[in-house]
Amino acid sequence: MPTKFNNHSKAKSLNIFGDAEKASVHTAKLIAELILEQQKKGKPSVLGLATGNTPKMVYQELIRLHQNESLSFHNVISFNLDEYYPIGPEHIRSYTYFMREYLFKHIDIKPENIYIPHAVCSPDRIEDYCRDYEDRITNFGGLDLQLLGIGRNGHIGFNEPGSSFDSTTRLINLHSLTRKDAQADFGTIDNVPRQAISIGIHTITQAKKILLLALGEKKSEIISKALKGEISTDVPASILQKIPQVEYILDRDAAALIQD
Ligand code: F6R
Repeated sequence: MPTKFNNHSKAKSLNIFGDAEKASVHTAKLIAELILEQQKKGKPSVLGLATGNTPKMVYQELIRLHQNESLSFHNVISFNLDEYYPIGPEHIRSYTYFMREYLFKHIDIKPENIYIPHAVCSPDRIEDYCRDYEDRITNFGGLDLQLLGIGRNGHIGFNEPGSSFDSTTRLINLHSLTRKDAQADFGTIDNVPRQAISIGIHTITQAKKILLLALGEKKSEIISKALKGEISTDVPASILQKIPQVEYILDRDAAALIQD
């Protein structure tokens, strides 16, 4: 059983698990429950999905539930948080590629229900493109659930420090720490894109349920700042302290600095 705190360190719901696998299985279970609930009501589920190392085991568990426990994604609509700019969908480091490899090709989601920011559009069309992405989310009635990781600088999506809490989908400049953390994937720092398209903080906080998953000791410092520190655009994830529908899901290492 996880350690459960309510209203601890201003968090609405904080679940700390013994290891990353347990935290990930719990996260997948919440996503699966939402999908099943919506299916019972004959409604689609609109999911906001993340990439990176953090959600990999969540996706593995969702695939297991699909393959072994007949969880269907036929009425799931998914919107990804972000994508590097400019980068083509076939690029091995694109988030389009990531989502296909780690989740979509293993489940029965309909290709037409998958939305990932398209980072090949020309600079003069970006603004219209971002508005359109935002409108599509709104037209589906908003996100039922947003899955988030957290960057070591407190970013959620690619909303880097300094991002306005009112921000919506837009082109952003990547922070130096974000690019440094991506260097291993891209080989050299010069290969790491300097920009990305990301849904905004406002868009994220409008989701009906938000799951922030953080795993590993590398996230302990920023988790402490995001959950216990001042609410400030310097730490974008700190805004979540004000959002009642947030559940923080941590492994013991990520929670190391917030446990008494
Ligand atoms: C990815 C995303 C980012 C990551 C964050 C943590 O779609 O939006 O905010 O969640 O950079 O990355 P990992 O999980 O690789 O530590």
